[in-house]
Amino acid sequence: MRLYSRITGTGSYLPPRRLSNADLAAELAAQGVETSDDWIVERTGIRARHFAAPDVCSSDLGLAAARSALQAAGVLAKEIDLIIVATSTPDMVFPSTACILQNKLGANGCAAFDVQAVCSGFIYALSIADAMIQTGAAKKALVIGAEVFSRILDFKDRTTCVLFGDGAGAVVLEASETPGILASDLHADGKHVGILCVPGNVSGGQVLGHPLLTMDGQAVFKLAVGVLDEAARVTLAKAGKTAADIDWLIPHQANIRIMQSTARKLKLPMDKVIVTVDQHGNTSAASIGLALDTAVRDGRVKPGQMLLLEGVGGGFTWGAVLLQL
Ligand code: ACO
Repeated sequence: MRLYSRITGTGSYLPPRRLSNADLAAELAAQGVETSDDWIVERTGIRARHFAAPDVCSSDLGLAAARSALQAAGVLAKEIDLIIVATSTPDMVFPSTACILQNKLGANGCAAFDVQAVCSGFIYALSIADAMIQTGAAKKALVIGAEVFSRILDFKDRTTCVLFGDGAGAVVLEASETPGILASDLHADGKHVGILCVPGNVSGGQVLGHPLLTMDGQAVFKLAVGVLDEAARVTLAKAGKTAADIDWLIPHQANIRIMQSTARKLKLPMDKVIVTVDQHGNTSAASIGLALDTAVRDGRVKPGQMLLLEGVGGGFTWGAVLLQL
């Protein structure tokens, strides 16, 4: 009998400090950077984002999301045998944020590691955990996307600093004889490293190179729309499904126009797309888990439904996971 992995609980966490576009525009104006609510809403669909306090790290946001997912699943931290954290804003260079979070959670002893695939991180992590559960290497996994992107934003660059926010999303994934994750598809193309990156690194006790996010927005936009469509089709085909079988598309929450374009190509109406980018901004690896948990808790996403999760981000990386909840 085929062994599946199944999501048995979801959780998320947003730091309390919420900035509307108007709040952010006022802060930026004080530094001589001009933007407006109208521009941000029209080009991105974003209306607000949350920023973590200076002493709060990705592991703290991820911990809150993980606790909430464990509670929803009715699973104790000590039962978890695998923790994967997807993040591009780790607490430290090393050890991994997953190890730091594991200790805070009290799940000491289980396997724990980070996945670095930027905004596709949650899809990568989910897919890896699924594979480990299918082989019997793990039985109960925590998959967490957690980011403090506000730490790597250049607040003098209005083309990027208005786009991102902080937060975390998590799921508990358990071995099951019923589906479960049906198919997944992961890709990367390193020739696009330069279009979305934080090029700096730590060397000899100093930061070398630019330590803040840089992006060619239009190049990212074009690539994102193409690869999301391809990943959706490949993943559906692997499971013998079509877009008509999907109850909900839960894409990475980067920009409403990317989501609209993806839905249009799949011939899915926007009322089958979970959209939280308006309230969260782009939270990178946290965004899909955050969107999923939001929709589970507000009753839109229900047990038994077919979900297509899709991610795309720096690397360039992209991928999709099709699952039955
Ligand atoms: N406020 C006001 N004006 C602005 C702002 C701002 N925050 N940012 C840029 N502008 C101005 C520009 O200076 C430019 O002015 P000009 O015409 O006088 O030169 C004008 O707006 C248009 O700028 P563009 O960069 O051409 O705007 P565009 O329509 O491409 O929108 C955006 C920019 C929103 C970044 C778009 O390219 C996009 O959505 N790209 C996708 C990238 C994305 O979503 N990345 C998220 C991370 S990647 C990921 O998660 C997959």
